[in-house]
Order: sequence, then C-alpha cells, then structure tokens
Amino acid sequence: MVDLKGKDILDGAQFTREDTEHIMAVADDFRRRLQDRPSLDLLHGYLLAALFFEPSTRTRLSFETAMHRLGGDVIGFSSAESSSTSKGETLADTIRTVDQYADIIAMRHPRIGSAQEAADVAEAPVLNGGDGAGQHPTQALLDLYTIRDECGAVDGKTIVLCGDLKNGRTVHAGVELYKHYGCKLILVAPDQLRMPADIVTQLRGHGMQVEETPSLETALAGADVLYMTRIQKERFADQSEYEQLKGSYILTREMVERICPKLTVLHPLPRVNEITTDVDALPNAAYFRQVQNGVYIRMALIALVMGKV
Ligand code: NCD
Repeated sequence: MVDLKGKDILDGAQFTREDTEHIMAVADDFRRRLQDRPSLDLLHGYLLAALFFEPSTRTRLSFETAMHRLGGDVIGFSSAESSSTSKGETLADTIRTVDQYADIIAMRHPRIGSAQEAADVAEAPVLNGGDGAGQHPTQALLDLYTIRDECGAVDGKTIVLCGDLKNGRTVHAGVELYKHYGCKLILVAPDQLRMPADIVTQLRGHGMQVEETPSLETALAGADVLYMTRIQKERFADQSEYEQLKGSYILTREMVERICPKLTVLHPLPRVNEITTDVDALPNAAYFRQVQNGVYIRMALIALVMGKV
C-alpha cells in the first residue's frame, strides 16, 4: 500500500485496491468512533483550506465537516468571484498564497488539470474536489464505500452508469476504482454524451466487461447498482443542445419496482430531474446515505494525508 502521508489526491487511477481497502477501513473506524461523540481531536490546530472556484454544496461542506469532526479548522472561499481570481490572479499565485496559511488544500476548479497545477506549486497536499470534466477522486471513493456498504461487497457487481458520461468527472474517477473489483459496467448515455472511447478501451484492456446501450430499461435488468448522473449543463457550449438532452434518462419508482426491485440507486447529487422524487422513499435509494458516507471517507483521506493514522 502507498503511504498517503504528504500525498496529493488527484485522480482515481492513483489508487490500488490495497489503497481503497485501507481508506475504507479507516473510514469505518472514524464512523465507529463518532457513534458516541460529535468529533475527535486528531487534527487539533491544523488548517484545511477549501478553495471552491465552482459551485458546490456537498463536496465543500463535506470536506469542511470532515475537518471539523477531526478537530481541525477550516478557511476558504466558495466562489471564484469572492476571491482575487476575479481581479485576474492566476491559479498558481492563489495557491502559493494559500500554501502560506494552510496545512492541506481541498480544491474545485472548472479547468481539467487544475488540481495537478495546484499540486505542482503547493507544498501542502492538494485534494481534488473536481477539476472541470476531469476527475473527482474523493467522490469516487465515497461511491465505492457506499456500494460496499449497501451491497455487502463490491466484487463482481454489475454497475450501470447512466447520464452524462462524457463530462461527468465522478464517473471518470469511479471506473478507475471499479476496475479493481471485477465489476461489470453497463454504460447508458445519449450518443453525444458517451464515455470517452479512450477510457472504455483502457477498462477493457484491464479485463473489465464493459457494455454500452442507449436503453436504461435494458441495462437495469440484472443490475446490482444504478449510478445516475446529471447532464452537466455548465459544460455545454450550446445551451439548446443541453435543453434537448436534459430529459434523456429518468428513473421512476415504477421502473425500480417492475424491473429491478433489489437495485441500489446512487447519485452524486445534485439531482435535476433524472430520478423522480417518489424513488426517495424506497429502501433502494442510497443517495442521502451516500452523502453521509462522504464525511467518513474525507475524514479518512485528510487524516491519512496528514499522516495522523
Ligand atoms: C458532482 C460534481 O460536482 O461533479 N457533484 C458532487 O460533487 N457531489 C456531480 C454533479 O455536479 O453533477
């Protein structure tokens, strides 16, 4: 296993199965320890900078919650407009500045490769909370953790990835983890938003069974997990194309009950219209438990990177 102390978390592909198993075991331990107390004091006196140049609800608040529950403190900003980026400051200069204050940096930015750019100039470890349509490794780890939790194991599961597989950074990171677990992937996307061909080729080269179908109903027959995603409006140059594609796939309660009553339904959120709200009351709907799991996984990552576990 790679010692994560001082390491950046940039990409799903950086993890081996041993790494993901260890991170999940540390998350389990934190979950257990928080059962009878609100927080730990493992990172007392340490500072996390949460630099969010793009909108976020869960990822930013989850990183902040994780740091607070570890006993540490948080600084940061939640939009590029409220930072000196709006005055023309480069990312590198902003990161060099924050590096003078913080012990660890969690960042989200609209540009692919921005997390690596930040890591190149920061001494503090950088945790990528999403770089454009690139990667979102902490989300991928909490997704994996949720599948393990909900299904009992990840090995050999059939996972349907549905929605915007071209621009969705959570699925780009996720497939790099599922490939360690012998999962079968069924990719469901509008033709314009299919998973990039180089990723599919790479996964097949790794021995993974990867199928593509435009039909969600076909994919759901025999699936263990549905990972539903939002069409990524902000990545479209032509908004009329977004309008045309946004209703492509919608999961309803009727579909779950008729086709796959044992299905586990995940979604990184935010949801727009791709899962009807009547699914929420089903035991299959795991997406709010997934949110909770994000705190334990981010606690584990922060503590590991800080060398405290
Ligand atoms: C995702 C993201 O920002 O990539 N959300 C998240 O982090 N939970 C998914 C999305 O925005 O659609």
